[in-house]
Amino acid sequence: MNEYDSDRIRNCLDLELTQDPQEADVVIINSCAIRQKADQKALSSLGKFKHLKVKKPNQIVGIAGCVAQLYGDQLLNKIPHLDFVLGPRAIPSLPELVTRIEKEKKRCVETSLDLEEIFEVEPYHENGKVSAFVSVQQGCNKVCSYCIVPFVRGKEINRPLNDILNETKNLVTKGVREVTFIGQTVNSWKANGYKFGDLLKNVAEIEGLLRIRFTTSYPRDVTKKMISAMAGAPKVCHHIHLPVQSGSNRILAMMKRTYTKESYLDIIKTLRESIPDIAITTDVIVGFPGESEKDFNETLELVKEVEFDSSFSFKFSPRPGTPAAESKELIPEMISNERLAMLQKFQSEITIRKNQKKVGSVEEVLVEGESRNDPSWQSGRNTHNQVVNFPGPLSLKGKIVNVRISEGLRNSLRGVLLQ
Ligand code: 5AD
Repeated sequence: MNEYDSDRIRNCLDLELTQDPQEADVVIINSCAIRQKADQKALSSLGKFKHLKVKKPNQIVGIAGCVAQLYGDQLLNKIPHLDFVLGPRAIPSLPELVTRIEKEKKRCVETSLDLEEIFEVEPYHENGKVSAFVSVQQGCNKVCSYCIVPFVRGKEINRPLNDILNETKNLVTKGVREVTFIGQTVNSWKANGYKFGDLLKNVAEIEGLLRIRFTTSYPRDVTKKMISAMAGAPKVCHHIHLPVQSGSNRILAMMKRTYTKESYLDIIKTLRESIPDIAITTDVIVGFPGESEKDFNETLELVKEVEFDSSFSFKFSPRPGTPAAESKELIPEMISNERLAMLQKFQSEITIRKNQKKVGSVEEVLVEGESRNDPSWQSGRNTHNQVVNFPGPLSLKGKIVNVRISEGLRNSLRGVLLQ
């Protein structure tokens, strides 16, 4: 989501990108507020530009994204070299804002969540890229008790079907072969009577597009219709990122996730019945306030039962304004650290075992380009969203090829191209 927003910021300014901060006329730190660490990282990155501003007083320095939204004009008070604060919904007003600062030399804040036309700016697109994001939804209507997103990104707004189709078609004419639809709870997308399953079906008809992905799905919004659209359209990849957050019903209730361990497992069962090879990945929070040893063990049990292909796991981070941050039952850091390490080790073993089981199988890989470490190797992804590296020519970029897997690693697979 943030990468997408950064590309939108880049595109709407019509300025050349530079890697050298000394050269920049405008510096923008795009920020994430989901956990405290990310939030602090954004603020400390801003600090790096303090001295430069002394040497280059006309340089415009701004902060964008969720940290900008969260702290608003407090940031101008706290950071004297900051010129503007821009919330995630205000990206379309960025060009006007920069012109105004240049002319009037006045600092400003734009954090209204009521701005319309939030999808107006398309992201910068790098020539030759095989895979691209398409935003289909902004904001979130869920009320998870730990999450800051609804506060900083506002209520859910769904993009009309035709706009999504047009952006996707446009990307295909530029050489894109795979799109990933993004939204906070992407599968709750609905517009003009259409539901998420209809979106998948419609996009699958676009000629030249080879693959469709989407992230992040919300468990309770996985419907039969969505699953049958996934199963019925070969272009839709066999992967779902379905954050479970906890395996304890007590914690899930406190998190206000609106599902139970049992109903989550039912969804997994239905997904696997319809799409037997589907890869399932997840997010987990450990050390949520009040999480007991028993609750945590239930999470481990669930991870064991589902055998997720991989997962992201986080220590609970109290976020300002969220109900969970007010809890009196915060878990000591040491215990959260232990639980996180245990969970990650547990998941690693599952992932490696599953990846090693793929040795000998033939995977369809959409080639994205040269591998980072060795240009005589190509890198791509299989339908399960796993990185697959293999020796081969760059001319395969943008094509789906068959690769026989020879090695299963923690974060990728290696193999040999089949002619
Ligand atoms: N603390 C820790 N992790 C969080 N996430 C969201 N909010 C918090 C928080 N306050 C995690 C969830 C979510 C992922 C994007 O970030 O697991 O799915």
